[in-house]
Amino acid sequence: MDLDQLAALRTPEGSAALAAAAELAGGDPLTAAAALRSAGIPAGLAAAALTQAELRRRAVGKFGPAAAGMFLTRAGLEQATRGAVAARRAARLRAAGVRTMADLGCGLGADALAAARAGIRVYGVEADPVTAAMAAANAAAAGLADLFTVECGDATAFDVTRVEAVFCDPARRKAGTGRRIFDPNAYSPPWDFVVGLAERLPRTVVKVAPGIDHALIPAGAEAEWVSVAGDLVEATLWCGRLAEVPRRATLLKEGPPVNASGRAGDPCYQLAGSGDAQAAVGPVRRYLHDPDSAVVRAHLVAELAGELDATLADPSIAYLYTDAPVASPFTRCLEVTDVLPFSLKRLRAMLRERRVGRVEILKRGSALEPERLRRDLKLAGDAAASLVLTRVAGAPTVLVCRPVPA
Ligand SMILES: C[S@@+](CC[C@H](N)C(=O)[O-])C[C@H]1O[C@@H](n2cnc3c(N)ncnc32)[C@H](O)[C@@H]1O
Repeated sequence: MDLDQLAALRTPEGSAALAAAAELAGGDPLTAAAALRSAGIPAGLAAAALTQAELRRRAVGKFGPAAAGMFLTRAGLEQATRGAVAARRAARLRAAGVRTMADLGCGLGADALAAARAGIRVYGVEADPVTAAMAAANAAAAGLADLFTVECGDATAFDVTRVEAVFCDPARRKAGTGRRIFDPNAYSPPWDFVVGLAERLPRTVVKVAPGIDHALIPAGAEAEWVSVAGDLVEATLWCGRLAEVPRRATLLKEGPPVNASGRAGDPCYQLAGSGDAQAAVGPVRRYLHDPDSAVVRAHLVAELAGELDATLADPSIAYLYTDAPVASPFTRCLEVTDVLPFSLKRLRAMLRERRVGRVEILKRGSALEPERLRRDLKLAGDAAASLVLTRVAGAPTVLVCRPVPA
């Protein structure tokens, strides 16, 4: 997609081509292209409209119904924040009194649009000209062009004294190849600039990869890990006056889409704490709890243990154990039926005897490959079981379990 193609899509003819392409998205691309051309749509416009229609279709999971009016690039969509996550972040910024904000490297504008919807005046800066033009088109399509404006340029040159808060979601994929970047020093804008913002401004928010090294979290910042329907999606650093607690885990569970901005009404559960507490260690108990990844990454397992009255069975493994089942949005609960020191032979014999033909395999602290183990077990039978590969007091152990209904 180039700027001319984007401009063509924003004409009345382009809108008609997009509407026709939307009807055909998800089907055979050659048939769809032929159908648009036979409807009199020029080949170039038809191709651009079909690409947009396909990207919009894929974007529904991230943005809900709002995806239908957005302009997207493949790379921009991959990097964009989910609607529900962006909406929560925007609501928190607005509740903290933020009225003006810069989005430094705004991409297609998912975060900026959410902030504008929350009533914040957003100044977006985006280095890539097509992405910047699309972000501006997205602001216009959402009726937010007064609240979200975009300039194409280098975010590091933006005068941050113009705004009350700065948001930065640095690119973590290599331009061109789309490969993930794991070293923060290779982010764009660069990590030094990003963390430097927190020193220059009283309100800075940074979106980072959920795998961020805790040592990189600026002193005094709140680090929040966010999961959506059990998938760990990102971490946010709330710096300066925006920090409320050292560490937080936020779990968004999926509910039905509730409004055009995504799934902002989904249930949300939060756990907060210091991030350096240690849970008590004891024996394996009857019920095992597998904490959500956001809780584990935020180092809040001890806080969760306190809530569930649970203990660990190994100080370095984040499975919790209780004597009674506990329903919690932060964990999945399994009933432990057998505890075996790991031995393939013994496990295979036990599962054979019980006619177990289907297993789900969970693991923490085990180097075993679940799929290889599944093959080696040579399962046969109608029964099902959950196998948990882990360590108990340092020893490789397998727990045979059954799920506890939610
Ligand atoms: C991860 S994306 C932002 C996604 C956005 N938060 C969203 O949810 O739609 C990062 C963006 O920063 C842009 N970028 C990288 N370095 C930049 C720089 N120095 N100045 C301006 N934009 C930059 C990239 O082109 C990319 O579009």
